[in-house]
Amino acid sequence: MRAVVVEEYGVVPVVRDVPEPSPAAGAVVLKVEATGLCRSDWHGWMGHDADIVLPHVPGHELAGTIAAVGAGVTGWQVGDRVTTPFICACGSCEQCLEGNQQVCLRQEQPGFTYWGSFAEYVAVPYAQVNLVRLPDELDFATAAGLGCRFATAFRAIRQVGQVTAGESVAIFGCGGVGLSAVMIAADLGARVIAVDTNPSALKLARSYGATETLWASPDTVQEIRDLTAGGAHVTMDALGSNDIVQQALQSLRPRGRHLQVGLLPSGVQLDVSRLIGQELQWLGSHGMPAHAYPEMLQLVAQGNLKPADLITRTITLDETPAALAALSNGTTPGVTIIKP
Ligand SMILES: NC(=O)c1ccc[n+]([C@@H]2O[C@H](COP(=O)([O-])OP(=O)(O)OC[C@H]3O[C@@H](n4cnc5c(N)ncnc54)[C@H](O)[C@@H]3O)[C@@H](O)[C@H]2O)c1
Ligand SMILES: [Zn+2]
Ligand SMILES: [Zn+2]
Repeated sequence: MRAVVVEEYGVVPVVRDVPEPSPAAGAVVLKVEATGLCRSDWHGWMGHDADIVLPHVPGHELAGTIAAVGAGVTGWQVGDRVTTPFICACGSCEQCLEGNQQVCLRQEQPGFTYWGSFAEYVAVPYAQVNLVRLPDELDFATAAGLGCRFATAFRAIRQVGQVTAGESVAIFGCGGVGLSAVMIAADLGARVIAVDTNPSALKLARSYGATETLWASPDTVQEIRDLTAGGAHVTMDALGSNDIVQQALQSLRPRGRHLQVGLLPSGVQLDVSRLIGQELQWLGSHGMPAHAYPEMLQLVAQGNLKPADLITRTITLDETPAALAALSNGTTPGVTIIKP
């Protein structure tokens, strides 16, 4: 099969033939119908993820049809249309049994712990825990986004952040995660302030429900404090940036909640005195387990949430290496989908 292969960190990958995956016991193999280009793929390509072994095939935000079913998998058949959380949980550890598959200690991740979906085929381990059946009316390109960024934003805003109507939510970074978060928070009736350096991304944020958009600058903190009469209830770092973390924490009102979704491979120094004195909450958020998908799919089916609107660009496998490398210089506004 053809796949995007990273031979060396930070060097533009190549597209070449590699062996197709075969389904291990408990796993399925999918024909990849659509897969998203997420900044986490860029982190992996840059060498920020200790799980990756080179040569490597990235890609973790995916939807496809089942092409082969491994031993012991019941209830799933060749041809079924599916997606999977990028965190493929084991289903049997303490965290999984408590329903917290997003922090499974034995998790596998396509595109990180094994070869991912920038390819014609990809394996999904622990299939019965992780496969999510797609409604017939949901197209593959839209469904791919539900594998990572849309679902991650859904869990961060609703389950971890517990955002409620009338609260002010400042989203720093309006790419795939941030724009999804804008749409999801706006649907809850929150007042959404979107922050980005790219005016085109801010324009999209407004169309997905942001009531205010701010061009990121040293004045951002004061602007948010003025707009919210003393600080936002909730902030989100949807890029992964030390500067954003510092700005976000200063933009919160007392007892505010900060959602950390963007990856910070070099770590970050926190003003812990401020966290204590203002009782701020620092909340990490990681993906979303498969059992939480029905609520999100229902809101998509009803038209409350429109993840299809986030897609601004569709590219081929051959165009993917350059698109991945270009993430070093910024983000094409909206979500990019690859059709292998
Ligand atoms: N926690 C999780 O489970 C999880 C899941 C998915 C992605 N991620 C991480 O979330 C982050 C975002 O991923 P993405 O694919 O949405 O990224 P993206 O590249 O699509 O979006 C980043 C956005 O940030 C904007 N930006 C750049 N500099 C900025 C600044 N100084 N201030 C404000 N905005 C700025 C860009 O213009 C862009 O719109 C990445 O770190 C990714 O690895 C984490
Ligand atoms: Zn991702
Ligand atoms: Zn587990």
